[in-house]
Amino acid sequence: MVDQQTPVGANAPTRSGGAPALRERLTRRKPVEKLVAETQGAEGAGLRRHMGFWQLAMIGIGATLGTGIFVVLGEAVPVAGPAVVLAFVLAGVTALFSALAYAEMAGMIPASGSAYSYSYATMGEFMAWVCGWCLMLTYGVSVAAVGVGWGQYINELLHLTTGLSMPAAMLAGPLEGGLINVPAAIVVLLSMFALLVGVRESSRVNAVMVAIKIAILVMFVAIAVTAVQDGNFAPFMPMGMAGVSAAGATLFFSYIGFDSASTASEEAKNPQRDLPRAIMFSMILVTALYCLVAFTAVGALNWADFADGETSLAGILTAVTGTTVWAVIFAAGAVLALASVVLVVLYSQTRILYAMSRDGLIPKAFSTLDAKGTPRANTIITSVLIALLAALIPLGPLADATAIGTLFAFALVNVAVLVLRRSRPDLKRAFRMPGAPVTPVLGVLSCAYLMFSMALSVWVAFLAWLAVGLVIYFSYSMRRSALEHEDTVEVRS
Ligand code: ALA
Repeated sequence: MVDQQTPVGANAPTRSGGAPALRERLTRRKPVEKLVAETQGAEGAGLRRHMGFWQLAMIGIGATLGTGIFVVLGEAVPVAGPAVVLAFVLAGVTALFSALAYAEMAGMIPASGSAYSYSYATMGEFMAWVCGWCLMLTYGVSVAAVGVGWGQYINELLHLTTGLSMPAAMLAGPLEGGLINVPAAIVVLLSMFALLVGVRESSRVNAVMVAIKIAILVMFVAIAVTAVQDGNFAPFMPMGMAGVSAAGATLFFSYIGFDSASTASEEAKNPQRDLPRAIMFSMILVTALYCLVAFTAVGALNWADFADGETSLAGILTAVTGTTVWAVIFAAGAVLALASVVLVVLYSQTRILYAMSRDGLIPKAFSTLDAKGTPRANTIITSVLIALLAALIPLGPLADATAIGTLFAFALVNVAVLVLRRSRPDLKRAFRMPGAPVTPVLGVLSCAYLMFSMALSVWVAFLAWLAVGLVIYFSYSMRRSALEHEDTVEVRS
């Protein structure tokens, strides 16, 4: 494969007048320089640049620490037993490879389209579309999943403080025997209003919420560690390695979000310098916290007591201390914390759609900015659709769909690193993935391993999602692509 920036019609696959050939359309790429130039835009024309290292890191941490550790952990323990700690390590290692790949790509191509933009620069439009389509699972569907987790904690808080519970019909969608999940939809719509008011305010709120959730997780560890008993770790792996892999695939959901910082590239003051550092910092902090929380949770409460899959961290605190005081503090913090995840991840989804719309692959409404520089229509349409998902679909399927789509998109980011290392060794890399090409190959393989550990039903849903994406690409996006009428595109020759 030879990569080159080629005027179409020179030695590129031919465009003999009229529309480009199918192969050319599928493989046309946006040159890295063009992607970077687009993000810089004319002063005042694009998104506002106001974020430094800490704000980017807060976005990464804010989007990551959420329903995965607060709720999904309780669902994963019955699958892996005490070895859930190992499942966290397995998912963390997979995420770490991809975090390194993201750090290299985000430092080089600071575009708000994130993995979608990296794929556009390396593998061409078709793979970029597939990636962007998968990122809607990473961000859009995960917002819905986190919203559902938020609803559970609101209910837990209500129950702990008043003894009352919300009516079941208002806490679950029709698939779980309810009507609609009201709190899940409400938290998504509240976040929509926060984003419409302005990102600067939202990122301040986000920073406070991140501090709160780190504080309550540290509090959990400090209390639970006093009740850890050796006996709770035996047998360590009651379901064998299959259980660890299956739990690892589900728990991968809890690591999703470190990449959110990359979707804020176009609002960062110095993305090349700050993004790689922010991504790595978030990843390390989150992994350490997860392993500590998982270890103390299964050490304090025997794994068999998690059997119903509904044991929450707040519940463990009550069991350990014999009082509800700590559980109330924890649940109140979790309510705020999960709201911050909804906010940040929703933000990320709107930015990816913004980039895809700017490229013509989805309607222009998604990249139209209002006077304050906010993509208003994009934010409203996206939030309303996600609120509907949150209101109707249970947490399990939402989290699994998020995980499989993300694993696929992350694998593509690792491939993008490999491709650009070969095709554009000349590009300045603010951060280089150590150990490449071995590490990106391991990144792809670890993503594939977790994907193949997922249940058949998750695969069916994923393939159906991809099929819908293909129909949209071939019937709309391919013809509307901004590259359709460009006189210079990169193609494979
Ligand atoms: N990592 C995010 C969470 O666990 C999606 O909520």
